[in-house]
Amino acid sequence: MSNTNRQLRLQNRPKGLLAPGDLQLVEEPVSPLSDGQALARVKYLSIDPTMRVWMAADTYLPAVPIGEVMRAIGFAEIIESRHPDYKKGDRVTGLTGLQDYFILDESAKRSFQKVPKIPFVSDTVFLGVLGINGLTAFFGMEIAASKKGETLVVSAAAGATGSIVGQIGKIHGCRVVGIAGSDDKCAWITKDLGFDAAINYKHADWKKKLAAATPNGIDIDFENVGGEIMQEVLNRMNLHGRVVVCGFISGYTKEDPNMVSLGTVIAKRLRIQGFIILDYASRFMEAATQLGQWKMFGKLKDRETVVEGLEKAPEAINMLFTGGNTGKLIVKL
Ligand SMILES: NC(=O)c1ccc[n+]([C@@H]2O[C@H](COP(=O)([O-])OP(=O)(O)OC[C@H]3O[C@@H](n4cnc5c(N)ncnc54)[C@H](OP(=O)(O)O)[C@@H]3O)[C@@H](O)[C@H]2O)c1
Repeated sequence: MSNTNRQLRLQNRPKGLLAPGDLQLVEEPVSPLSDGQALARVKYLSIDPTMRVWMAADTYLPAVPIGEVMRAIGFAEIIESRHPDYKKGDRVTGLTGLQDYFILDESAKRSFQKVPKIPFVSDTVFLGVLGINGLTAFFGMEIAASKKGETLVVSAAAGATGSIVGQIGKIHGCRVVGIAGSDDKCAWITKDLGFDAAINYKHADWKKKLAAATPNGIDIDFENVGGEIMQEVLNRMNLHGRVVVCGFISGYTKEDPNMVSLGTVIAKRLRIQGFIILDYASRFMEAATQLGQWKMFGKLKDRETVVEGLEKAPEAINMLFTGGNTGKLIVKL
């Protein structure tokens, strides 16, 4: 096998958005396979805000060491195998890294799962609605314990996770209000996805519009953004409301993120819970089955923003922080 593997390796811990050279493109030959190894070719990469966190510091996973291939979730196909559990043509998702090829062996195996070929279903759903974002929305909404008639507000509402959260909220019978950064995104989530209202937080009067869209207050905050947006949502929470802390994307590129005042939590007797999707791994199949049924019956709609080429992955990562994506952001190799 004489393939060349292109890889994006972490060269610097970025300050703010990624700068040219923070991820460096290198090439190396693909090593010949030994017994117990399979060679996979990456077809799609999932571009996730947490990658920026992994570049910066140790958190729920250790930071990616300088010089290493950047950690990323991907979809790959086995192209050659000397491993008893994999055969040519098998498809897997897992921590492929930002690269064209990787070798799957016994030690890497637990970071991957095989995915079936389903007629009329695109490969990329296993990175989005049936992957990290659908699963995050599903288990986050389980924490929310939403009930019919409650008001749910979700931020980054036209993103990969938020767009599914809002639709699950509608399935549960909630009034769903999304907060997003453009009029087009707001139109998509209300007209196509069935949200009851959408607020463009870039309009000067967005706080007034949020108040008008939540006449009975807010029972659940599904928080993807943090900072000023979260503070305003907390200000409108009803007593004993629930706050599901999924992410604080507004702070990931800042040295000094604008945090919310926890005084509101006492005054409103709020229940706040953060979560990391990895903790639910033993229940992924259960959730994916439900998400798949909803998708099949048209109750979950999704959209993708696709960027072509491994070398474009750094720009794609930055798009998450400038609002350049609608729905799931994918790099196609
Ligand atoms: N806890 C977990 O296990 C877990 C798992 C997956 C994801 N997450 C979190 O879920 C959130 C969404 O992730 P995703 O993968 O679905 O990404 P995404 O929503 O598809 O993309 C990120 C979106 O965030 C919005 N955004 C970026 N910076 C912002 C800012 N300063 N203020 C307001 N909005 C901003 C942008 O949309 P606009 O145009 O609307 O600004 C952007 O499109 C992130 O916080 C992520 O860390 C958590």
